[in-house]
Amino acid sequence: MITDKNNLETNQPLLLKNAFYYTESGFKLGHILALEGKIAAVYPEAELPQLSTDVLVYDVTGKYVLPGAIDTHVHVREPGWPEREDFFTGTAAALAGGITTICQMPNTQPTPHDLPSLELTRQAAKPKILCDTAVYAAAGYDNRDQLAVLAQTGICGFKTFLQFSEQHITEPQYITVQNREELRELLAASAATGLRHFFHCEDFILINRLEQAAHRAGAEDYSFHYKTRPDATELNAVQQVLHAARKTGAKVGIAHVSTVAAAAAIRRAKADGLDVTCEVCFHHLFFDDSWLDKFGPLAKCNPPLRSAANVAGLWPYLLDGTVDYIGSDHAPHLPAAKQAGREQIWLAPSGIAHIELLLPLLLQAVNEHKLTLEILTELCCVNGYKQMGLYPQKGCLAVGADADFTVVDLAKEWTVNSAAMQTKARANATLFDGLKIQGAVEAAIVRGRLLYAAGKVDYQSAGYGQLLHCHQK
Ligand code: DOR
Ligand code: ZN
Repeated sequence: MITDKNNLETNQPLLLKNAFYYTESGFKLGHILALEGKIAAVYPEAELPQLSTDVLVYDVTGKYVLPGAIDTHVHVREPGWPEREDFFTGTAAALAGGITTICQMPNTQPTPHDLPSLELTRQAAKPKILCDTAVYAAAGYDNRDQLAVLAQTGICGFKTFLQFSEQHITEPQYITVQNREELRELLAASAATGLRHFFHCEDFILINRLEQAAHRAGAEDYSFHYKTRPDATELNAVQQVLHAARKTGAKVGIAHVSTVAAAAAIRRAKADGLDVTCEVCFHHLFFDDSWLDKFGPLAKCNPPLRSAANVAGLWPYLLDGTVDYIGSDHAPHLPAAKQAGREQIWLAPSGIAHIELLLPLLLQAVNEHKLTLEILTELCCVNGYKQMGLYPQKGCLAVGADADFTVVDLAKEWTVNSAAMQTKARANATLFDGLKIQGAVEAAIVRGRLLYAAGKVDYQSAGYGQLLHCHQK
């Protein structure tokens, strides 16, 4: 029985005993042995092996063992703003949420837009990461000539914000495009690399127009944020990206799809044969715009929390294969910056720091029969690795794969307490306090090491996390 003990001291073998573990043909009962970071053996239930005493035996009776989960959308704030979240606290939060691999978004300072700046991200991450980490490169019109060389470095893809409007990035030209022509040219450059190109899809021209109109009309309560970003602002931008992808042959990915209209457009594009992936972030599945009315800055993110009809309407797209994976869009900000927007919502930075709730809320949804544990596992623990070129090294419980596991308990009931969170931005997560959840992360194991168990993160293992080399096809 594991309590607060772990196997960090040595490269101690680990046996997951009585594991009800995921396979593509359903959950199976057995025992999984991890040796030197890899899955060394999977034994049938009746064949519990006799092992030497140096093996750490973790009896997971009654729990489910998933391939370690991947979060395809995480904003650690290094380099640039470690006071908001650094790689140590960001990956500690990931582990506490059962995430064993994060994909780091590139809207940092500087953006990783060429080899030297990409190296700054990697150098910041290396000594601090607790879990494994893949990195996106920033792609803007002005660094389109860098994409070919960036594509050779094992990044998990390119990321572009359509007309990014946050002022604090001093070199926005390395992560944005200004118009359709620039978008087309940029996508032609990424198409030549064969890597997937991910987009934040919001029509900022329309948003700016609506914001000015709302100010003139004095419509400045908390609903300002979502009313100036109606569904059409997402759909317009998604259509632009899909159109440019068809013209250039680029592989694209739409980040944090939040509306039924955009999901439907992506479903049609997939049916037409376009190579496009669809990510949904979990807050758009659980929280509607009434949370923004109530909590203002703390519930402010982009794209915004949407109508209850959109929240309910996204679920069928999880089940029909339109959505490829679920991310968090964990986006920590300084509490003081959030508070500065209490009177004037438009002054607050956008982003919610809640990676620790992603899997628990989805487990609760399994309990409520909104999706199956098998589909949850594909969306959170398998498909992301396939897309990023990390499968079957990860995302697969078979001999030879990395011994990454997320152990979950579907029955456990608990109550969210933001003060106990790992993220530096926990003061911004008070809106979730008191939320009762059935479904909990029991443990997170990265390449055979038990880094999170019994509510504790193993802080000693800073730097144990690896920077991943993705091999997208
Ligand atoms: O709400 C958001 N916050 N949406 C984004 O796309 C960016 C993110 C951030 O970096 O804070
Ligand atoms: Zn994001």
